[in-house]
Amino acid sequence: MTTTIELNSGAQLPQLGFGTSQAATPAASVAAALQIGYRHVDTAQMYGNEAEVGEGIRASGVAREDIFVTTKLHNPNHDPADARRTFTESLRRMGLDYVDLFLIHWPMPFLQIDYLHTWETLIELRDSGRAASIGVSNFQPDHLDRIIGATGVVPAVNQIEVHPYFANNEVREFAKSHGIAIEAWSPLGKGDELTDPVISGIAERLGRSPAQVVLRWHIQRGDVVIPKSDREERMRQNADVFSFELTDTDMAAIAALDRGEDGRRSAHPNVLGK
Ligand code: A2P
Repeated sequence: MTTTIELNSGAQLPQLGFGTSQAATPAASVAAALQIGYRHVDTAQMYGNEAEVGEGIRASGVAREDIFVTTKLHNPNHDPADARRTFTESLRRMGLDYVDLFLIHWPMPFLQIDYLHTWETLIELRDSGRAASIGVSNFQPDHLDRIIGATGVVPAVNQIEVHPYFANNEVREFAKSHGIAIEAWSPLGKGDELTDPVISGIAERLGRSPAQVVLRWHIQRGDVVIPKSDREERMRQNADVFSFELTDTDMAAIAALDRGEDGRRSAHPNVLGK
């Protein structure tokens, strides 16, 4: 159902994942998604649903080793001792003895604790075998440069906001030039971009839904997507994006919708914590 991307850690990451941020029924939704065929689940300490995500994984009946599980370090937990302790708590909440990927959720450059030390702690966790791969989220090129320059360890992934109105190409290209895979969060722009006439026009021509067109656009750009839905019908629809293709003209038409910073749905990482 999905293609995979080889991470710089050697792990295989399914290009289609299931997002759980703001899931209304995380346990039931994760179980349904896995039964439909998703093999990659994304959660975070910040979402407050790791226990339910673990419950959904167990209820799905899908073998643990067949699922790629990601969680992320919450912003107040950047201190190395807190990062170690809360990582263990995350595993316990999920009922897992390892995660496939552990990310620093936000760089928080204005915290007193330097995210470089947090990154060094993630390297330790990786070396312990309890996080198979490690990476970051919402990092800008200067943040990436710092941690790579100081440790020599390149994150496997940078999970960033990407959707048609905020294509985030500068960060994507910088990361990709360093061998860092891009995961697009809010790939559907939280659903708001699905009524755009360019997207709905392409969808109509192809006999696909606007969400499928947007997800396919990400996939053809080589990014990983983690759409969220609590509705089974939409989970199925969002997973059915590997049996059709967008033309170069379609790809360019969607790329032209980019509004730069004005299209962003979140605060810029450099102002967080200010
Ligand atoms: P719901 O959970 O009710 O299905 P993103 O992943 O970009 O943050 O977008 C998630 C939002 O998009 C949610 O509000 C979700 O609503 C909605 N959504 C997810 N899949 C689809 C789809 N195939 N068609 C329309 N809306 C969707």
